[in-house]
Amino acid sequence: MEHSQKTNLPERANINVRHVILVLSGKGGVGKSTVSVNLAYALAMKGKQVGLLDLDIHGPNVAKMLGIEKHQLLSENNKIIPVRVLDNLQVVSMAFLLPHRNSPVVWRGPMKSSAIRQFLEDTAWEPLDYLIVDLPPGTGDEALTVAQSAPNISGAVIVTSPQSVSTLDSSKAITFSRDLGIEVLGVIENMSGYICPSCKKEVDIFGKGGGEKIAEEMDVPYLGNIPVDVDIRRSCDEGWPYVAKITGSPAWSSIHTIIEKLNARIEKSK
Ligand SMILES: Nc1ncnc2c1ncn2[C@@H]1O[C@H](COP(=O)(O)OP(=O)(O)OP(=O)(O)O)[C@@H](O)[C@H]1O
Ligand SMILES: [Mg+2]
Repeated sequence: MEHSQKTNLPERANINVRHVILVLSGKGGVGKSTVSVNLAYALAMKGKQVGLLDLDIHGPNVAKMLGIEKHQLLSENNKIIPVRVLDNLQVVSMAFLLPHRNSPVVWRGPMKSSAIRQFLEDTAWEPLDYLIVDLPPGTGDEALTVAQSAPNISGAVIVTSPQSVSTLDSSKAITFSRDLGIEVLGVIENMSGYICPSCKKEVDIFGKGGGEKIAEEMDVPYLGNIPVDVDIRRSCDEGWPYVAKITGSPAWSSIHTIIEKLNARIEKSK
């Protein structure tokens, strides 16, 4: 990748993509990978050309959630070949670099940055409508590198769980995006309420409303909430995308409403 003469920052990768969407959170374990996988899959089911880039070197869960974690990274003509999950859904994951599923990756910042640039620049992505980028929690090297190296970044989606420890941290992700000039497309509150399968009453296991509150406080859009759903947990563990199999559930409708709002937001900001 060339460096710009003027700024000394790397040039943005030359990928044919209309919208790059970064999926960020302040805290770990709030559902970024789950949201990224289902967002990418649902967009592909709507006929869009979608790429999904899993940049969590320390916990690459996307591959597991899609049932492709045994895949090894292949290359052709010096370009990385993405894994095709559907005809119009291509995936590249840090997991494909691991020699064993359980190996931890011990990489310093510059190594991570150069791997990320390769995943962008030296990958044979087909022309894409969307590239969804799943990031590790927080605002570290990975988020910074991709924010500086990806072209056509439409914005960031911030995932939080409802409780205040998570929403408080998500304000840092919002500030990080703003500082880098990346539009915040909106906040998603995940694990928001649970409908008890036997009594059908809603139980707010982790509370409710924190995501909307932080969106209001930070003056960014609120995209919606996704409830706790046993099938979402099962789908992640068993390696099939929730939206591919389950339709009509409250979580399914939430994900589709979120996509509509997200699209409206992206179109508005063009
Ligand atoms: N709405 C939900 N209902 C039930 N389980 C969920 C829901 N969202 C996420 N999970 C489960 O929570 C766990 C954590 O989710 P996930 O890995 O997507 O979080 P993450 O933010 O990507 O974590 P990390 O910060 O480690 O990357 C997963 O096991 C997933 O199955
Ligand atoms: Mg994750």
